[in-house]
Amino acid sequence: MASLLPQMPHRCEAVILLRTERLYLRQFRAQDAGLLLELDSDPEVMRFITKGQPTPILQIEQEILPRLLGYYAQSPPRGCWAAHLRANDEFVGWFHLRPDKLQPDEMELGYRLMRAVWGEGLATEGSRALLQRAFTEWAYAKVSARTLLPNLASQRVMQKAGLQFESRFVYPTEMIPEWNETERQAVKYSLTREEYQRRNPEASSEAQF
Ligand SMILES: CC(C)(COP(=O)(O)OP(=O)(O)OC[C@H]1O[C@@H](n2cnc3c(N)ncnc32)[C@H](O)[C@@H]1OP(=O)(O)O)[C@@H](O)C(=O)NCCC(=O)NCCS
Repeated sequence: MASLLPQMPHRCEAVILLRTERLYLRQFRAQDAGLLLELDSDPEVMRFITKGQPTPILQIEQEILPRLLGYYAQSPPRGCWAAHLRANDEFVGWFHLRPDKLQPDEMELGYRLMRAVWGEGLATEGSRALLQRAFTEWAYAKVSARTLLPNLASQRVMQKAGLQFESRFVYPTEMIPEWNETERQAVKYSLTREEYQRRNPEASSEAQF
């Protein structure tokens, strides 16, 4: 279905973080509220995040986008990056790597993709690329990822990207107040730089930042 919302930026205006075989990840810009709105308006995309409720445009414009834009001044890189298909520049969602809210000394990997591209391995592809950067050039010590227990697709991405099951936990009420205690059951997966380097001995441990 053709979208009336803004599509992707002109390629040469984008600040690109990295490229994979099929994706490029770029910094968000102030004019990207429409893309975030489109992504967060699909109840299936938001199923394990807000029980399917769309994110209000005011929240995107006044809270979410300013927070995302604020990340980019930091080094080594952290934040949330828009993902586009290299083939046609189509916006397909985002990936984040930022301090974990429950354990801020760890970096949390996250992803949210448009339903139209699910099942093609894109979340795994983007996650692997971010992990590679995280443990080599950026020299982060540990990357984790969390998801609610029934979000099996997300757990599968964690596994395929190379993260290992670490623990089951319950999200604190204040983090997701609309979910009851049973629903707040979740899992944490993680990977340390040490383990990443053990598996990828060719990976450089020299930080560029
Ligand atoms: C989670 C998400 C990013 C996965 O994106 P994706 O590009 O489809 O992921 P991939 O194709 O790389 O891998 C998905 C894997 O999950 C599997 N999967 C999908 N739905 C599943 C389900 N209901 N039960 C079990 N496995 C499932 C797929 O079969 C695939 O595994 P496989 O390659 O072994 O067959 C996407 O579904 C999404 O954006 N969901 C909404 C937002 C969200 O929940 N984000 C995570 C919050 S923690």
